[in-house]
Amino acid sequence: MSEEGRMALSLRGVQPVAQVPRRMFGSFVEHLGRCVYGGIYEPGDPAADEDGFRRDVLDLVKELGVTCVRYPGGNFVSGYNWEDGTGPRQDRPVRRDLAWHATETNQMGIDDFYRWSHKAGTEIMLAVNMGTRGMKSALEELEYVNGAPGTELADRRVANGIPDPMGVAMWCIGNEMDGPWQVGHMSPEEYAAAVDRTAHAMKLADPGLQLVACGSSSAHMPTFGRWERTVLGKAYEHVDFVSCHAYYYEHRSEGLQDFMASDEDMKTFITSVVEAADDARAANQGRRNIMLSFDEWGVWNSEEWNQQETEWKASSNGLHTQPWPEAPRQLEEVYTAADAVVEGGLMITLLKHSDRVRSASRAQLVNVIAPIMAEPGQPAWRQTIFYPFAIAAAHARGDVYLPQVEGDAPQVETRSYGSVDAVEAVVTWDPTGRGGWSQEGDPSVAASDGGPQVGSGSGLVLAVNRDVADGHQVTLDLRDLGGQDAGNQAALRVVATHLLHDDDPHAVNGPDRPGRVAPHAFDVECREGVVSFDLPPVSWAAIELSR
Ligand code: AHR
Repeated sequence: MSEEGRMALSLRGVQPVAQVPRRMFGSFVEHLGRCVYGGIYEPGDPAADEDGFRRDVLDLVKELGVTCVRYPGGNFVSGYNWEDGTGPRQDRPVRRDLAWHATETNQMGIDDFYRWSHKAGTEIMLAVNMGTRGMKSALEELEYVNGAPGTELADRRVANGIPDPMGVAMWCIGNEMDGPWQVGHMSPEEYAAAVDRTAHAMKLADPGLQLVACGSSSAHMPTFGRWERTVLGKAYEHVDFVSCHAYYYEHRSEGLQDFMASDEDMKTFITSVVEAADDARAANQGRRNIMLSFDEWGVWNSEEWNQQETEWKASSNGLHTQPWPEAPRQLEEVYTAADAVVEGGLMITLLKHSDRVRSASRAQLVNVIAPIMAEPGQPAWRQTIFYPFAIAAAHARGDVYLPQVEGDAPQVETRSYGSVDAVEAVVTWDPTGRGGWSQEGDPSVAASDGGPQVGSGSGLVLAVNRDVADGHQVTLDLRDLGGQDAGNQAALRVVATHLLHDDDPHAVNGPDRPGRVAPHAFDVECREGVVSFDLPPVSWAAIELSR
């Protein structure tokens, strides 16, 4: 382990890499466990509104700052009939969900999700079923969702009470089609042909769509790399994004220190996918970059789930007679202080790569591996991981800057990634100071159109100390932020500070103690454009700035 050290970072002469994409703060709602039923939708609950949506959950979704929500899966989508969730509720079919071995009542569907998204103020990102269905159903769904009245399916939507096209721009063409667990999983060549045809046809219907091809389910799949090259090489002309999925947890064999450095894996993953996307561009003699949609990320002990599933399968002899429960309690992870620091670090990594990662969805939103938890009849509450996301979503705007390390950085030793910097940080600066989004939704515009401007503005520093043993001092030279000529502008000042740390890295929140792990203000010195602060071991920090 390192000894307490000083991390000197600087933005002197550093140009921004990109502008913060609005969709960086996306989330994910899947028909899985109690995410939909008992999560966002629970008619009869005291917190439910006239549509059956939990008001307390909606309030927390707004506080979380979610901008865009991927729906309805996930593995669930690969066996889903989108039509089942439309029309009068009493007529909707009840079906088995093969992905999660549950009963799907279809009491929530696209129309209801559209209404919920309006209330939440979030953009919709839809995934289509490429498992049991494919191009035809994707085209029909597109007509139902976005079609102007006057055709059969668009008119069906109108009859179901939604007169205007929903205007869904971003569509995922399937989910994790490389995964052997996926209903209808495919070889790279099979999926490449399917996504190419489907994307081509969807763009005939609307060339303005932004289409996401499935990438690998993780960087550790046996076909990782070959999958991306095959799929993007074939479908380059018609797709705009390739998806990345990554979940991290504390492996017993590797321990907390390696878990704290999970963002190292994410960095390598992103770099490899960018290389594959650029190879596909070169192979197609293209000019346009395929962007990354990191549309499932977060902390989740997926091995624990896989183990449970294996045991459950082994215990059922012959024909499967176990019940298919409705909205069972599945994947209800309770998050620790360390998990929150790791997720804060993953967000820093995503922002640092925002030249190519133009969309990301933290998985998932409510109850299922989620920042928001809801129990029947009780107020919804915030998990530890709620805070780093919410604070970044509220304040990261404008240009993204990557601080450069000056001198020797304190290091930590990991089994999986070798020696890595103890501290990671990123800075955003909004020269308008207005906190709005720029270049919304355009995947081709990733780079900022200029360097820092002289004048006022507002900014955010995000930092993590990944060291489990020692605290570290950080100095960050921000003299160039907001303009090269410091003499022409107001002094940089600290507006607010947030530190998330607990002496017990495994401390958790709960319905009875929702604020056990939460950020609090901490000391930050700001002198002539240089900020200095101390980060305790396993901590995440945010500093709001303005001129
Ligand atoms: O988010 C839980 C599951 O993880 C999703 O359904 C699937 O896409 C991924 O494997």
